[in-house]
Amino acid sequence: MYKCALVLAAGQGKRIKSDIPKVLHKVCGKEMVNHVIDNMRNANIEDVNVIIGKGAELVKKETENRNVSYSLQEEQLGTGHAVKCAKGFLEGKDGVVAIFAGDAPLTKIETINNLMEEHILKKNSATLLSAYVEDPTGYGRIIRDGDEVVKIVEHKDCNEEELKVNEMNAAMYCFDIKDLLSSLEKLSNDNNQGEYYLTDVIGILKNEGKRIGAVVTDYEDTIGVNSRVQLAEAEEILRNRINEKHLNNGVTLIDPRTTYIGVDVKIGKDTIVYPNNIFEGNTVIAENCTILQGCRIKDSIIAKGVEIQSSVILESRIGENTTVGPFAYIRPESSIGKDARIGDFVEIKKSTIGDGTKVSHLTYIGDAEVGSGCNFGCGTVVVNYDGKTKNKTIIGDNSFIGCNTNLVSPVEVGDNTYIAAGSTITSKVEEGDLAIARAKQRNIKGWVEKKGLMK
Ligand code: UD1
Ligand code: CA
Repeated sequence: MYKCALVLAAGQGKRIKSDIPKVLHKVCGKEMVNHVIDNMRNANIEDVNVIIGKGAELVKKETENRNVSYSLQEEQLGTGHAVKCAKGFLEGKDGVVAIFAGDAPLTKIETINNLMEEHILKKNSATLLSAYVEDPTGYGRIIRDGDEVVKIVEHKDCNEEELKVNEMNAAMYCFDIKDLLSSLEKLSNDNNQGEYYLTDVIGILKNEGKRIGAVVTDYEDTIGVNSRVQLAEAEEILRNRINEKHLNNGVTLIDPRTTYIGVDVKIGKDTIVYPNNIFEGNTVIAENCTILQGCRIKDSIIAKGVEIQSSVILESRIGENTTVGPFAYIRPESSIGKDARIGDFVEIKKSTIGDGTKVSHLTYIGDAEVGSGCNFGCGTVVVNYDGKTKNKTIIGDNSFIGCNTNLVSPVEVGDNTYIAAGSTITSKVEEGDLAIARAKQRNIKGWVEKKGLMK
């Protein structure tokens, strides 16, 4: 059967008190709307249409790499009206449409699959997802007659009896596309909020004698984020789930409560993660790594056996068995080879560092290509910026760069070279040479005595 999905993402989200649209707030490093889109895709629904309105351009920008189509809801007149705005997307289609709110990022894939299967198996006109919750305040209530769902009533429209119902509407549904389209025409906004509710479609279809199904799931699955409190709740739930997944995959997290791992991060087994670490974006950490305390690693690839301590690594690669930190800063587009060492207070920017090279302390390397087997003395600076342009430095294999060297770019240093400590290198050092570029020392005999400074 043909399947497609609508993601409702046109509302501003007044209750979250933000200048940016609610659905762009992140949970575990990913925008809520992108969680929902990815959830649809993971449940094998390819054709996804996102309904945008408030901050439409922003939402489009943040979702455009996900290959979705868009419908525009210019005025936010309610969730039913939002779906109506996707008529162009739905018309002429025959099959099932899953409709999910863009502010509910925590739905498990198996729950979406269950909903879809139940809908198709029972040949329902509509199937909704619900959950029992202690305090259903704010949620739409599922009203049943015996076992059968007859309608959904929004919190603000509930009578006293209905307020007591603690089965809440998750705002996640499957609909027969044709039935949905015809019932949308019958929606009215005669309710407490003066909105066109998608939830009314259920009652409309029921009155027409159509078959309505319901799948009950855990509350956690369904949480919709309306406020910052709920955003923090969602973050904690997802963080726990992510951490548990890694623990079950054979990763040691010394303190999961202070370990923040993005949803798309991959970690190999027998890697040990100490407290206070943040891994973001598309980071991949291979097996047998030790990530000591206090690292932020974003969009980076860390090979097997690497040890990192109290360092920041952005959009870079670290080769096998290399050690990084404490207090190293590896900035985007850097690639460090294997068995290398990047030590304390070292900053590397947009540079490649060869295998086995040691940059142990207090050094800046920017816009450089460094070979393998090199040794950088303490306090080396690649002077890559002349105030106008960034220039390149090339250093060959097995070079020994003495302490406190300046390499004024553009400059080249050949293989197997030595640079004397304190040198300021401005021109090429040929292979096999020693370069000394500093004033020769001169001692003035008895100078202190002569000046009357002797103590
Ligand atoms: C909705 C449901 C409620 C359910 C709850 C679950 C309705 C009428 N109510 O209420 O039954 O219990 O979700 O979390 O559907 N949106 C638009 N256009 C609009 C209005 C909303 O695109 O005109 C989008 C929002 O961006 C949001 C989603 O729809 O992503 C849900 O809207 P929201 O206002 O949060 O609905 P709730 O009041 O939470
Ligand atoms: Ca909501």
